[in-house]
Amino acid sequence: MERRDYEVGGDLPWNEVVYSLAKDIEGLVKPLFGTPEGGRNIGTNVSGDVTKYVDKVAEETAIERLKPLGINIVSEEVGLIDQGSEYTAVIDPIDGSYNFAVGIPIFAFSFALFRTEKPVYSALYEFTTGRYYEAIPGEGAYLNGSPIHVSPSEPKRAAVSFYTRGAGTGLIGRVKRVRVLGAIAVELAYLARGAIQAVVDARNYVRPTDIAAGVLLVREAGGIVTDERGKELRVHLSAEENMNVVAAADEALLKIILEELGGR
Ligand code: IPD
Ligand code: CA
Repeated sequence: MERRDYEVGGDLPWNEVVYSLAKDIEGLVKPLFGTPEGGRNIGTNVSGDVTKYVDKVAEETAIERLKPLGINIVSEEVGLIDQGSEYTAVIDPIDGSYNFAVGIPIFAFSFALFRTEKPVYSALYEFTTGRYYEAIPGEGAYLNGSPIHVSPSEPKRAAVSFYTRGAGTGLIGRVKRVRVLGAIAVELAYLARGAIQAVVDARNYVRPTDIAAGVLLVREAGGIVTDERGKELRVHLSAEENMNVVAAADEALLKIILEELGGR
């Protein structure tokens, strides 16, 4: 794979660090894909959700590798590891754990690095396709080293990933295709590379760990990310905060989504 070579903030080559970590996690979790062992529930995480065995294996590897770097870590299962650093990595070691457990090949490692509250680098590794997405604030978004961009379409021709428990269902009749792939970080990356035109989760359920990397990817690919009222979405350094997310390829589709959610 062609790799980019750039400064991403701090004194570490984060692109190398994160890519090699993702590959190591891949090697460890691969034999567990679609197995009862991988999907075994082993407890609950900081926000009260089930932790599966695969989540634990992936997270332990990530923490083992990132902790010696001295940065703070916010990870989906354990929450905050505060090492007093100005840098914080917000990670989801496996986004799409349920998919993983039942053998649906849509899941990823998601990593976003912040300096205080400002994003400096994000990356997402889609294990089964080997796609490595990266975003650098002000520089752009990349897939395996090549620039990617959102791909707006007329709203009635759009494909939208839409998670709801009833809010805004009128949206279904206003777009062409609705997708719910079970790994929102991957779905945000798909929006960033133009495969779909929006990602909406209106359940007040996603956490910063699920979306931190994807939000930067979408923004750097030219998309817009707001809350359910159309206000610019702020991603906090937390594994517990519940939020809604509306990410769209352009203003026209965003307007329709917000109308249906009652926010505009
Ligand atoms: C979940 C997935 C899912 C989304 C949930 C997330 P997990 O992450 O991204 O698509 O609907 O909100 O929690 O638990 O598989 O890491
Ligand atoms: Ca997860």
